[in-house]
Amino acid sequence: MTKMSVPSLFSLKVNGRNVVVEADPKAPLLYILRNDLALNGPKYGCGLGECGACCILIDGRAVRSCMIPIAAIAKREITTLEGLGDEEHLHPVQQAFIEESGAQCGYCLNGMIISAVALLDRNPDPQETDIREALRHNLCRCGTHIEILAAVRKAVVLSKAASSASAHSVVPETQA
Ligand code: FES
Ligand code: FES
Repeated sequence: MTKMSVPSLFSLKVNGRNVVVEADPKAPLLYILRNDLALNGPKYGCGLGECGACCILIDGRAVRSCMIPIAAIAKREITTLEGLGDEEHLHPVQQAFIEESGAQCGYCLNGMIISAVALLDRNPDPQETDIREALRHNLCRCGTHIEILAAVRKAVVLSKAASSASAHSVVPETQA
């Protein structure tokens, strides 16, 4: 059993919000997000860094929050599933997973979506091999891989459409 340390105060930026939590410095970030901040998008799957259910974005990179002690993430930008969008303004990846029914039990979904968002942020036009590589270490026990891959392909299309729409919505300056 891991020996507990003296609790300390930690300042975090989560989903654009500054928060302070008191915690054991060795406490996994996943526990803080779920138990202290009520952010239940990231799931506890294996607790060993192997399944990907607990993925979050730190500075835009998909990482496994079950493996990161809270003391290791000071001054980093944390985004959870809850920070991607809301019911009125879904992230294109969330929209694509809904449209393609990319889930059965949904337990892996957080990790799949977070990994797909990280992929599209660094590569807006991924090939099939890029998508498979990005999701390779996220486990789905329900065997929903076909639908999940279809959802990420759809997310590529929706993301491009969203980028193009926002580019066209910029009103050109009126000529003097
Ligand atoms: S719960 Fe973190 S990788 Fe499985
Ligand atoms: S949909 Fe159940 S684990 Fe993936």
